[in-house]
Amino acid sequence: MDYKEKLDIDNIPQHVAIIMDGNGRWAKEKGQMRLFGHATGVESVREALTAATEMKIKFLTLYAFSTENWNRPKAEVDGLMDLLVNTIASEIESLHNNDVRLLTIGDTNHLPDGCRNELLKAIERTASNKGTVLILALNYSAKLEIKQAIKRIAEKYKEGSIELDDIDDQLVHDHLYTAGIPDPELMIRTSGEIRISNFLLWQLAYSELHFTPVLWPDFKKEDFYRAVYEYQTRERRFGLIGEQLNELNKDD
Ligand code: FPP
Repeated sequence: MDYKEKLDIDNIPQHVAIIMDGNGRWAKEKGQMRLFGHATGVESVREALTAATEMKIKFLTLYAFSTENWNRPKAEVDGLMDLLVNTIASEIESLHNNDVRLLTIGDTNHLPDGCRNELLKAIERTASNKGTVLILALNYSAKLEIKQAIKRIAEKYKEGSIELDDIDDQLVHDHLYTAGIPDPELMIRTSGEIRISNFLLWQLAYSELHFTPVLWPDFKKEDFYRAVYEYQTRERRFGLIGEQLNELNKDD
């Protein structure tokens, strides 16, 4: 089926988040080193970004490196950091020419200097672009993000700049890495694993979840269109019942 043809252009998610999983298994199936899987995964990053731009998805968040990933063998961690630096360096002009803006979420202060500097350059270079915003989750942990937000809110309470009753959804949102960015309507995870893995725990509260057995290096534009198509067939209820939603939608 040609899923792109079937998409309802009035119901495209504003924000899609992806857990790119399965690079290691893909490489192993081919008798290759895990890093070969990550390197091929960069092609899928390109596919996903192109598809997001074509669908006019405003925000695309990719889970590229978690705080737990430091525990992998040193050679793999070093290889992933090199891949990141080299990819950003070689793609920065193409990102810019395609009006893509790059942002990061996560504890990027603790990335290796070379990696941090390359990212800062790319963030600065693309800062005024108005197309798709590509958000790389790097050294990211949702629990850490929430803990940091709680600490900053507690400090404000202690110094008297906020009251207890000021602590609402909006205030929490304003203290997350994703402040100012709408929550993802859709989260995709590849490789058949059915877990959230410490990714955007606050932001995914009402997201539709799409799990596909496709390994990340095999993930193509068509897989992305399909995920968005399936998202469009779902009824998003936000805790209401179907009849209440119909009533609300009557006014649209
Ligand atoms: C998960 O597969 C993948 C990662 C931890 C890294 C993803 C990184 C890339 C695709 C390259 C990043 C590049 C840019 C520019 C964002 P896995 O290693 O956990 O696979 P496995 O579960 O099969 O072992």
